[in-house]
Amino acid sequence: MRPDSPHPPAATRRAFLRWLAASPVLATLHGCDPPDSPPGAAPSGGTTLRPSFDPATLQPIPRAPVTTAAEALDVFDMERVAATTVPTAHFGYIQTGVDGEETQLRNRAAVEAMHIRARRLVDVSSLDMHVTLFGREWPTPIVIAPCGSQRGFHAEGELATARAAQARDHLQVLSTVSSTAVEEVNEARGGPVWYQLYATSNWDVTQAVVERTRAAGCPVIVLTVDLAVGSNRVTLARWSRMDDRDCRGCHRPRGEAPTVKPMFQGTVYRPADFRSPGMTWDFIGRLREITDQRIVVKGLMTHEDARIALDRGVDAIWVSNHGGRSEGSGQATIDALPEIASVVAGSVPVIVDGGFRRGSDIFKGIARGADAVAVGRPYLWGLGAFGQPGVERVLEILREELAVTMRLAGTPSLAGIGESSVGAG
Ligand SMILES: Cc1cc2nc3c(=O)[nH]c(=O)nc-3n(C[C@H](O)[C@H](O)[C@H](O)COP(=O)(O)O)c2cc1C
Repeated sequence: MRPDSPHPPAATRRAFLRWLAASPVLATLHGCDPPDSPPGAAPSGGTTLRPSFDPATLQPIPRAPVTTAAEALDVFDMERVAATTVPTAHFGYIQTGVDGEETQLRNRAAVEAMHIRARRLVDVSSLDMHVTLFGREWPTPIVIAPCGSQRGFHAEGELATARAAQARDHLQVLSTVSSTAVEEVNEARGGPVWYQLYATSNWDVTQAVVERTRAAGCPVIVLTVDLAVGSNRVTLARWSRMDDRDCRGCHRPRGEAPTVKPMFQGTVYRPADFRSPGMTWDFIGRLREITDQRIVVKGLMTHEDARIALDRGVDAIWVSNHGGRSEGSGQATIDALPEIASVVAGSVPVIVDGGFRRGSDIFKGIARGADAVAVGRPYLWGLGAFGQPGVERVLEILREELAVTMRLAGTPSLAGIGESSVGAG
């Protein structure tokens, strides 16, 4: 096939989709039947989280085909489209967690296991979903999490995401391993994004990258601390094997040196620098010395670390396990959230991510102590499926679902959502 072809040949793709139909991966992650599974097909196994089968007839619940972004009814519609439009290995990169997917599944299962305690006869004729972070007001608490390599999912990559963020006025956080430089993204966003930092083990590289984002006007550095070393991405490895494209159009084929990402270009970066196994809490102080940007720590899962982070003077805490892509702890972020929120006690903003797929999930995140809730895969599915309109539709779906949830739960403002708004089981 042509080196720059975005998709595997039809035969390979059909073989892959047949494999996917028989795989538990899609079914276990969200319980829908895979893209081209025939009507009436037997359950593909592992549908423990959300059976997509009618309990009365035991037949699969059909999903209407989605051909435009506007037709998507929930974010899982986007996932199904993206499974057919994003190159196979790249789709595997979106979907993957680590090991046997225990942590990713747990993120989702724990959110689903909670229920909302709906209150009645409250005036919900006007709704207030706004949140203020570092003096900037956002119309909703829904944040676009940093995700790398977005040109691997759609030709316009981070630029499409930025335009969608601007159109819908959402906070966008740009990854260090973005496939587009921060200056271009800021222009497309119509203002500076927050910048997610991977520390690297070379201070000169880190300093150059931070200075560049500061010069670009990014007000916040989000330091990711949950992936200082590599992780065991079994699902990605499996899906990559199903993709025999020459991937030169997006990155070097396996075995060759990787392309240097735009944010490392112009620095002394070498691929060996990428990980930062020696990073400790002292890194926060070093960052403070070189920048006046706000510092958010992303990837905390315990109250002990939240305490240290506060003592080190961080400006916000982001509860995350990287969408189940770092350690295979099996601990869900929404379960870690209350212990962290109680240590923070409102002193700095708390953001959470991991498995939030519906407006009702976002409501639960707020109820458990978050000020804002970030999503990763859902907007990547929208991006892969339809580009900018897909990302916009995902943001619109989540916002509308959150609005409906708040009204029906009798909580017309985010401030009114609290611990008593949810229950376990
Ligand atoms: C394809 C992909 C790439 C990601 N890249 C990064 C990254 O470069 N930096 C980072 O801090 N987190 C990264 N993440 C993690 C997200 O920021 C976020 O923590 C996670 O996706 C949230 O979980 P969710 O996908 O279940 O919503 C990535 C996640 C995905 C799915």
